[in-house]
Amino acid sequence: MVDTDDEWIFARTGISQRFIANEHETTATLGAGAARKALDIADISPDDVDLIIVATSTPEHTFPSTASLVQDALGARNAGAFDLSAACTGFVYALSIAAQAIQSGAVDTVLVIGAETLSKVVNWKDRGTCVLFGDGAGAFVLQGSENPGGVLASVLRSDGSGGDLLKVPAGGSAMPASYETIRNNLHTIHMNGREVFRFATRVMADACRDVVALAGMTIEDIDIIVPHQANKRIIETAARGLRLPIDRFVINLDHYGNTSTASIPIALCEAISEGRVRPNDNLILVAFGGGLTWGANLVTWAVTPKAPVTGLRKVRRQTLYSLARIRSAVRRGARAIDGAIWGTQAPDGIEPPHRGAN
Ligand code: ACO
Repeated sequence: MVDTDDEWIFARTGISQRFIANEHETTATLGAGAARKALDIADISPDDVDLIIVATSTPEHTFPSTASLVQDALGARNAGAFDLSAACTGFVYALSIAAQAIQSGAVDTVLVIGAETLSKVVNWKDRGTCVLFGDGAGAFVLQGSENPGGVLASVLRSDGSGGDLLKVPAGGSAMPASYETIRNNLHTIHMNGREVFRFATRVMADACRDVVALAGMTIEDIDIIVPHQANKRIIETAARGLRLPIDRFVINLDHYGNTSTASIPIALCEAISEGRVRPNDNLILVAFGGGLTWGANLVTWAVTPKAPVTGLRKVRRQTLYSLARIRSAVRRGARAIDGAIWGTQAPDGIEPPHRGAN
């Protein structure tokens, strides 16, 4: 254990508890769980999803993407899937990309997920980081609509010169895994907390001002700000910089700690379920993180009213999730049989039977 106490952690960060994934929970399982809830609330079948974006800093593997594993778990047979890496700003980036993909007409329904298991990449002997991060996931369904609203503007920013301030040094092409990297704890989060704090307090207010200007609004038009949940003092500084009362900000980091890309969707979901977000409210989602990256979305909360979800449709979705598991197992089995019959290479001039996408 590290030399720390609850009093220091709460006073310096505002965090009092965190969720830590168990050994069976991974970024993909947390992401798929959040996605199922989002599909239930939106009353959408996994078959109708065109694209799945998982914003994460703790992907299941380098590849395959966590998004592909979530796609398989959901049985979203018609969806493309990819991961988005922009550290804690990932959800803001993903929302912007999803909205643009819908606006372009390329897709209609996008599942945007922020999911993390940061507890698995934290150095539990470093008190400067291990007291901050938690695990979790949140998800939203975005759909094209004739009604005005949704993601009206986004600003996405990066300054790679600050990449060293917050990084997992090893495990990539710059420093592949070796005995040394493991011995020296280089597969865990390394952070210069003071520098990241200074950067964060500067860019949070800037990103809010920029996105408001881009949408042709003023900061007074904003009803609620959902900031990345890293440190309560950073949010308070942003509120002072924007001359806004703190109660205009959604803050729930006391319960979850810093869940990186998951922090904004979790905080927004809680604000919605508490009734804090009303139809046609203007929201700013604003984040900063490793990269360095930062950015903001301006969202007008114009959710198309839906008929109450019937039990039958819920049962149908549950059935599709069960079928997804069976389908995935059958496909793995079929591939193993293919391999056994054909070996690793196709015989000269004979192509193994092609298995379609569905
Ligand atoms: N318990 C007790 N003491 C501690 C702890 C701890 N857990 N951690 C640090 N300290 C000590 C330090 O050693 C230092 O002691 P010293 O003065 O004797 O050297 C003292 O507390 C003050 O240290 P600071 O680093 O100045 O503490 P600060 O008030 O800045 O708080 C913190 C540290 C919480 C990390 C803060 O800097 C911060 O929140 N930074 C931003 C971090 C952040 O947001 N990261 C996420 C980015 S998002 C992403 O992409 C993942």
